[in-house]
Amino acid sequence: MVHTITLDAHADFEAWKVQARDLCAARIPPGQVRFAPPDRDDPILDLGMMALMNNRRNVVTSRDFMDRAERVACHSDPERYDRLYHLLWRLQAQPSLMRNTVDDDVRWMVEADKAIRRDRHKMHAFVRFRKVGDSETGRERFMAWFEPSHYIVDLATPFFTRRFPNMDWAIVTPFRTAVWDGEALRFEPGGTRDDVPDEDVVEEQWKTYFSSIFNPSRLKVAAMTAEMPKKYWNNLPEAALIPSLIQTAKTRERMMMDSLNHEPNPIAEKATYQPDQTDEDLSPPDIAALWEQVEACRRCDLWEGATQGVAGVGPDNARLMIVGEQPGDKEDLAGEPFVGPAGQILTQALEEAGLSRETSYVTNAVKHFKYEVRGQRRIHKNPSVSEIKACNVWLEREIELVKPDIVLCLGGSAARAINGRPVKVGENRGRVLERPDGLKFFITSHPSYILRVQRYEDAPTAYPQMVADLRKVAALLAA
Ligand code: URA
Repeated sequence: MVHTITLDAHADFEAWKVQARDLCAARIPPGQVRFAPPDRDDPILDLGMMALMNNRRNVVTSRDFMDRAERVACHSDPERYDRLYHLLWRLQAQPSLMRNTVDDDVRWMVEADKAIRRDRHKMHAFVRFRKVGDSETGRERFMAWFEPSHYIVDLATPFFTRRFPNMDWAIVTPFRTAVWDGEALRFEPGGTRDDVPDEDVVEEQWKTYFSSIFNPSRLKVAAMTAEMPKKYWNNLPEAALIPSLIQTAKTRERMMMDSLNHEPNPIAEKATYQPDQTDEDLSPPDIAALWEQVEACRRCDLWEGATQGVAGVGPDNARLMIVGEQPGDKEDLAGEPFVGPAGQILTQALEEAGLSRETSYVTNAVKHFKYEVRGQRRIHKNPSVSEIKACNVWLEREIELVKPDIVLCLGGSAARAINGRPVKVGENRGRVLERPDGLKFFITSHPSYILRVQRYEDAPTAYPQMVADLRKVAALLAA
C-alpha cells in the first residue's frame, strides 16, 4: 500500500510537516509514502489513505532538523519530500542522527541546504528592478525577472520587503511571482521574461554604478562566470558593459589602488549596540544555522544598508580560523568573506606561506558591510567599537563551533574583537598570544593595508612581512 500525499505548492513545507508528523506517528514507513509536489511528474498510484489514527506514537524532531527541512523543501529535487520523510523516520530511532555528518541521508540534507542558501544569496544579489510606472497611490512601481535554481521565492523575497519597503514591486520567476504593495507580500502564479519591460532609467543609473565599482584587479572571466552564471547575465544590465570594462582594466586598476587608502582602526563613534532589543537564540547549533541568524541579525544598525549578513565560510573543523574586519562592497553582494581585492592579497599571501585558504575557516569581526555613499560608490567605513561588540556573539559562536587551534587576526579590528580590548598590531604581530580562556591567536596586517602601502615606494616590506607572519602560523600548525 502506497499513500500519496499531494502537495499544492512546490515549497509547501507546512503541509509536508503536518502530514509527515501524522504519518510518522501512525508508523507508516517511508517505503509506503510518496509526496507529490507539482514538480513531480512520475506516475503515482494513489491507493488512498488508511485510518492513520490507530497505533500512534510521539514524533521526535529537533529544531535543527525542522529549520533545515523548511529550507530543503524549496529544493528542486522532485523527491525532496520523500527524502525528508525518510530522515524524519530515521530520527525516531536515532535522535542524534543529524550529528552524524558522514551519514548519506544527512549529507544529502546538508548539501541541499547549502544549495538553497547559495540560491537565496544569488537572488538577493542579482535581482534588478526595472521601473514600470507609478501606482494609483503615487508610489513608484518596479518589476524584476529572475530565474532561481530552486523554489526559493517565498524564502528569499521577504528580504526585498525590508530593502525596498517604500516602492511597489513584483519579482517574476517561472514558477511564482512575489508582489509587494508596501503592506503585504503576496504570491501569484509565475510568468515569463516578457512580462518584465526591458530597459529603464534606473537601469542606466545602475550601469553607471556598476562601472564605478567594477574591480579590474579581479578580472577573472572564468571566476565571474562561476559566481554569476550566464543565466543571470541575461538579466543583468551591467553584463553588457563587461567587454569594454575589460579593455580598460589596467588603467582602472591603477586608479582603484589609489583609492584604497584606509587602515582598519576601530574608533568608537555613536553607540548603536542594542543588546536588549534582541530575542534571537544566540547559540545556533551549527554553522549553517549561524548563517541564518547572522542574516536576520538586528543587534546594531548596519543590517539596514547591507545587502545581507556575511557569515564565515570554510570547514567547520578547520584548524586555522582567519578573521578580517567586515565584508567590503564585493563581499556584501556575493555573501562571502574576502572575495574582493583584499581577498586576493590574502589568498596569495596564504599560498606563499604554505597555508591553504580552502582548509581554513574565513570570517569577519563584523558581519554586515558598513559604508558611506559618495557619488555612486559605496566607500568602506571602519566599524565602531560598539558594532564590533554587537557582532561578537557570532564570532565567539563560530570559535565554539569550529574550535580552531589558532585564530589569525587580520588587522586591528579583528584583533580587538578576539582580544576583547584594543591590541596594537605593530607591537604584537608575529607572535602567539593567548586569551584567558586559552584560545591562541596571532596578529598580522590587514590585506587592505597591504593594498594601501603598495602605493608608496618607502613601504616595500609590508607584504613580505605579512607572508613572514603567515609562515610562522604555518609552522605552528605543522608542529
Ligand atoms: N575586508 C575584510 O576585512 N573582510 C572582508 O571580507 C573583505 C575585506
